[in-house]
Amino acid sequence: MNRLEGKVCVITGAGGGMGADAAELFSEEGAQVVVADVDLGAASTVADAVGGLAVQVNVAEESSVQAMYAAAKERFGGIDVLYNNAGISPADDDSILDTSLEAWERVQAVNTRGVYLCCKHGIPYLLERGGGSVINVASFVAIVGAATSQISYTASKGAVLSMSRELGVQFARQGVRVNALCPGPVETPLLLRIWSETPGAAERRLVHVPMGRMAKPREIVNAALFLASDESSYVNASTFLVDGGLTAAYVTPE
Ligand SMILES: NC(=O)c1ccc[n+]([C@@H]2O[C@H](COP(=O)([O-])OP(=O)(O)OC[C@H]3O[C@@H](n4cnc5c(N)ncnc54)[C@H](O)[C@@H]3O)[C@@H](O)[C@H]2O)c1
Repeated sequence: MNRLEGKVCVITGAGGGMGADAAELFSEEGAQVVVADVDLGAASTVADAVGGLAVQVNVAEESSVQAMYAAAKERFGGIDVLYNNAGISPADDDSILDTSLEAWERVQAVNTRGVYLCCKHGIPYLLERGGGSVINVASFVAIVGAATSQISYTASKGAVLSMSRELGVQFARQGVRVNALCPGPVETPLLLRIWSETPGAAERRLVHVPMGRMAKPREIVNAALFLASDESSYVNASTFLVDGGLTAAYVTPE
């Protein structure tokens, strides 16, 4: 299949988790992929496997984000898709009563400022090409609250959701679509770490998921593929939920 033939896609956080899966799938679909991650070793391993360009980036740093896009343009001549996927969820981001200001700001720096910087410096490249697609990764926690709080993470994903909506509206007539991809819980290192640390954590959460299981990374990345491709040409400024029905549920099946 060649659903992304001729497109240059910059994926942040592509050294692991869903980003690495996306690098593989997007490459299979004909894209030229920039595998960007704070961990250069991880990015290089993925890039070597998929034939992409590895770039070290810290999405929280403006000059680093600018350098990432400059490297992408130099190598591939332009950029068509921004997949702003990098995000963190550290253990010390917890209840608002226990979360330090330092932990709050560390999460905001990557998850909120990172998406801001990647859009601010990436969208001009899409405009140069006459349009493109931006996929900002938010989360189901931007829609529903959890008593098992990760306060800064949740607030950051709310910011990503509303920022994406606004950008999608602003650039709609210039051919740039911006959507917020909102996954439900996914089997990646980020979530498995949290769920494995506390006995009963998985059961407590899965009861709220109608399908009774987490998503596989590929189930989320398939949606990103759709958003990146021209098949989603009329999907813009959306809250693109891929959550197994979680945010629609009140009483789930036994
Ligand atoms: N796993 C889930 O259940 C879930 C659910 C909803 C949303 N999300 C979101 O999906 C995205 C991907 O999550 P994942 O589970 O694949 O995460 P992950 O932790 O498995 O991978 C994240 C990648 O981002 C990289 N990264 C971290 N900080 C970075 C920085 N400052 N600059 C560049 N790269 C950085 C890491 O090195 C890692 O390779 C995140 O935005 C996350 O918040 C995840």
